[in-house]
This record gives sequence, structure tokens and C-alpha cells, in this order.
Amino acid sequence: MPNAHLITFANEKGGSGKSTTSVHVAVALATAGRRVAAIDLDTRQRTLARYLENRLATAQRTGEALATPSFETFDPARGHLLDDLIEGFAADHEVIVIDTPGRDDEHARAAIVRADTLVTPINDSFVDLDLIGQVDPETFKIRRPSFYSELVWEARKARGRIDGGTVDWVLLRNRLQHLEARNMRRVADAMQELSKRVGFRVIPGLSERVIYRELFPKGLTLLDLKAIGSEAGIGHVAARQELREMVAGLALSQWPQHQAAPSQAAAG
Ligand SMILES: Nc1ncnc2c1ncn2[C@@H]1O[C@H](COP(=O)(O)OP(=O)(O)OP(=O)(O)O)[C@@H](O)[C@H]1O
Ligand SMILES: [Mg+2]
Repeated sequence: MPNAHLITFANEKGGSGKSTTSVHVAVALATAGRRVAAIDLDTRQRTLARYLENRLATAQRTGEALATPSFETFDPARGHLLDDLIEGFAADHEVIVIDTPGRDDEHARAAIVRADTLVTPINDSFVDLDLIGQVDPETFKIRRPSFYSELVWEARKARGRIDGGTVDWVLLRNRLQHLEARNMRRVADAMQELSKRVGFRVIPGLSERVIYRELFPKGLTLLDLKAIGSEAGIGHVAARQELREMVAGLALSQWPQHQAAPSQAAAG
């Protein structure tokens, strides 16, 4: 039975960075020589698929060899079944990256149940954290996990029933700013506190950089040094480093497919 490591990017909060981080992770792994496939579950926006289409067009236009994941947009209207798409890619890929829409969606839920690694990008804001856990207005301590933690908890239980596997849940802090603001410190502290109760890991993601918004039309990432050419500056060296650290933080090599991750604490 073919097996690939499945990484699902999901957060019902729109605009939290699912597509941006999923593309960067998929391309970084492909650039590192891994056989990567990507599935875009956002049939309407298709940000991940459009990004990779732009990338293929750039490769063709410039003649640059740009490592590009195989990809498909999931479309139930075309008769797609998610399990079939996953199985099809798993036959000849080592990693499958799934990007999901920023809303509750039955297929996104199924992709969470199937995930070996679930990545939830989140901005350092109590508004974003509110989906994961509610914070006391006076003390900023966690009062209780929220509906999204419960949704993931249910998905993890379903996964256990299906094949005894576990979902390694990673909260990825996106759009990090390097100013030490008091509010961000409080959010980070609340996230750490919640991580123990709900059973997720917190890893640093990408910092807030204009370049992440500008690379889309060419389908490039900061790892595409030559193609970016003279535009690469000092800041981009640091940005490439944070991209590598983000991928390292996912700790994919530590999770051979469908093996037990450390035990997960109950949500609630
Ligand atoms: N690290 C970053 N620095 C600067 N801009 C960013 C960063 N991450 C994401 N963005 C920008 O934020 C916006 C939302 O990001 P993205 O589309 O990746 O989020 P999403 O979670 O996929 O959204 P949706 O829920 O609509 O699918 C985009 O304009 C993107 O370019
Ligand atoms: Mg998106």
C-alpha cells in the first residue's frame, strides 16, 4: 500500500496564511529533492494551484529549472473524490500538501482526519487565537478551548478509529513581526498555555514581508535564487533562513508515515 506523508494546512479563519505557507512548504520540499504533490481544496479561490500555474509559466518563459510539485485542484463538480486524489498521488510521491479554504468545509474536515501533520497558520492576535481558545479579558489566561480545538479533537478521535494513526497538530505563527510588542507577547504566552491543554506544538513561520505578497504572479519563492536574480537582498537571505526553519519546525523526518506521535492531551 503506497504511503506518503500528508500535510494539511487548515484554519477556518480566512486570510491567516494557509495558501502562502503551504506553497512555500511544498516548493521548499520539492527544491530539496522530495517528490511532492499539492492538492488545492479551495475550488473557488485556487490560490495554491494558481501559484503553481504561475510557477510553471515562469519556468517556461525564462528557461529556469524550477522544482515544482505535481498539483491538482479538487473539484467535486468534476467528480473528484478526495480519497482517490490522495491515493493517486501517494503512489509516486513522498509528501502530499493540502491547502484548504478559510471556512468550515466537509472536505477540509476529511483532509484533517487524513493528515499526518496538520498545520494551522495563525497571526499573533487574540482575534485569530479566539478560534482555538478563549482568553480571560483581565488576566489573558486561557479560559477554555474553542470550537476549532474541538473540531480537531474530534478529527483526531476519528483518525484513531480509522487506522490507529495520530495527527501531529502544529500552530504556525505567521506574519511574525520583530518588534517586541506587549500584545504579541501576551498572545504567544496564551498560545503556549493552550498548547499543553489541547495538544499542539507552536512553531515560528514566516515574518511579515512585502516580498511574500509580490512573489505570487511569478509563482516564485525565496528559494528560487537565480530566478529572483538581482532582486535578492540582505533581507531575503534572512527570509530564506526563516523558510528553512519553518520547514525544519514541521519535523517531517521524525514522523515516518502513520506511526504514533506523542500522546495528545484531551481538548477541554
Ligand atoms: N508572511 C507574510 N508576509 C506578508 N504578507 C503575507 C504573509 N503571509 C500571507 N500574506 C498575505 O496575506 C494574505 C492572505 O494570505 P493567504 O492567501 O496565504 O491566506 P489564506 O489563509 O490562504 O486565506 P484564505 O482563507 O482566503 O484562503 C495574502 O495577501 C498574502 O499575500
Ligand atoms: Mg487560501
